[in-house]
Amino acid sequence: MFLNNAWYVACMPAEIDDKPLGRTVCKQPIVFYRGGDGVVAALEDFCPHRGAPLSLGRVIEGKLVCGYHGLEMGCDGKTIAMPGQRVRGFAPIRSYPVVERHGFVWVWPGDAAQANAALIPDCAWADNPDWAYGGGLFHIGCDYRLMVDNLMDLTHETYVHATSIGQKEIDDTPSVTKTEGDQVTTSRFMANITPPPFWKLALRGNHLPDDQSVDRWQICHFSPPSQVMIEVGVALAGQGGYHADAKVKASSVVVDFITPESDTSIWYFWGMARNFNARDKALTAAIRDGQGKIFSEDLEMLERQQQNLLAWPERALLKLNIDAGGVQARRVLDRLIAAERVGAPASPVSAS
Ligand code: FES
Ligand SMILES: [Fe+2]
Repeated sequence: MFLNNAWYVACMPAEIDDKPLGRTVCKQPIVFYRGGDGVVAALEDFCPHRGAPLSLGRVIEGKLVCGYHGLEMGCDGKTIAMPGQRVRGFAPIRSYPVVERHGFVWVWPGDAAQANAALIPDCAWADNPDWAYGGGLFHIGCDYRLMVDNLMDLTHETYVHATSIGQKEIDDTPSVTKTEGDQVTTSRFMANITPPPFWKLALRGNHLPDDQSVDRWQICHFSPPSQVMIEVGVALAGQGGYHADAKVKASSVVVDFITPESDTSIWYFWGMARNFNARDKALTAAIRDGQGKIFSEDLEMLERQQQNLLAWPERALLKLNIDAGGVQARRVLDRLIAAERVGAPASPVSAS
């Protein structure tokens, strides 16, 4: 149950710098590599000779050479040559639209005719010296929508991330969720609270005191197919909160690109982009470290939740107020997936 006609992050550029990468996206095994002039290419990971994965091969002079018997494959999926053979009658394999942009490699697993690079999301931090970005990649054994639920309901921070970003006030402050077109937003604003450890680190990183009360915010933005950008931050209390002057706050964007591998596994590209003290590489590393530890705390919960859901598929689950973000995101996805199946353009429904 995922959208195929959409851009997904397939990998980070460094993953294909030295050799081809085999990665399954939306149940489709794909090989990613750098062809001629280093331009990224994506093909089905299946050699037309005997079905070996092309990702076990090597790139030689821009051609992907099968690691089994040396078939030479072109970026368009057409066989170029094979030792001792004529290749003109070889059936082509599928090639995928693929673009390297914003520090990621993006792939379109659906109908290639509909792929439009202009639909790749904007990433304000990319190639911008006023911003710094640090991130990583996790493979997690869960339905991608469980990860969306997780990111659209941050009350779990109080329990899963108790020692870093969790605090009781998150539970005590209701969030507000709304859907506009295909976008779902869940917001929570907390006034006059003690910053938890991760935010103390960020305050110090922006040369601000870490022993004063702050106003804190979390604004989660879901966009199809499965990305969640979360505006997060703290400002010294009483100075305007989210709208406070940059000098009195530490804020950033939690970046989450979720790529389904199968019905029950994902490639999770996570990161944090910040526009304060952007040149401080040690701070970028410290934040990345902290965020990596925090996000690794979600893994066991999500994987064990998935196992429970597989074991008891008939069990009904509750939908509470805190679940509104995930519920509304699923509603958007259901509508878009249904429209994709019948080949119709999907018209946005009104907010609910
Ligand atoms: S399987 Fe690829 S060349 Fe034989
Ligand atoms: Fe979490």
